[in-house]
Amino acid sequence: MSGVDIAREAAAKEALKYVRSGYVIGVGTGSTAMVFLRELYKLIINGDVNNVVLVPTSTETEIEVVRLGLANLLRYPWQVDHVDVAVDGADEVDRRKNLIKGGGAALTREKIIDYWAREFVVIVDESKVFDSIPSKHPIPIEVIPFAWTIVKARLEELGGTAELRFGGGKRGPVVTDNGNYIIDYMPRAGVNVEDLERVIREVPGVVEVGVFSGKRVSRVIIGRLDGSTVTMD
Ligand code: 5RP
Repeated sequence: MSGVDIAREAAAKEALKYVRSGYVIGVGTGSTAMVFLRELYKLIINGDVNNVVLVPTSTETEIEVVRLGLANLLRYPWQVDHVDVAVDGADEVDRRKNLIKGGGAALTREKIIDYWAREFVVIVDESKVFDSIPSKHPIPIEVIPFAWTIVKARLEELGGTAELRFGGGKRGPVVTDNGNYIIDYMPRAGVNVEDLERVIREVPGVVEVGVFSGKRVSRVIIGRLDGSTVTMD
């Protein structure tokens, strides 16, 4: 296992401490969230955790739940009246627990479920912690296709660069689970991401912004390359 794999596994295992029998569990998206899901699967299969149900934040997560043989535990928001805990990854984290999310284009469903949860636990490896964000990863912004050029121009007016996301084994733009596009926006250095989130959300055509406020995050579990973890509460 690489150092990053060790760090992710350590963070995922630590997050299991916040899971209880009978819980409605929001399951995040991305490679780190999938490590958590596979660790949770082991607890379920061994009978260490009973009567849980799983609310996925993306098609990726749904498919993995089904692949693991847990389709009977899948629930959608309209089938539950709350989420006890959501566990999700992030692209970047700052010291105030603010996050950049949406590297996997799942930011909208992630924010819906993660913010709904009574506890929102973030798991990352140590390479994702920065003094200020965005640092390396641009801010993903989900936009209605009809509006993408208008939103892109508005972001460029705010300063920095904005690019329609392409790739991922499909010709043309990436299409989200909600049928929308993603614009990756790298603002000028030194912006306050919480203020920026508010400004961008007001642009017509924007569905969601991949800035998650640290105020909505219960804790960030940082996995280290040596297999230890540190938790920011
Ligand atoms: C998907 C996300 C992911 O949580 C984020 O991209 C981190 O993914 P990974 O654990 O694969 O690095 O926000 O939209």
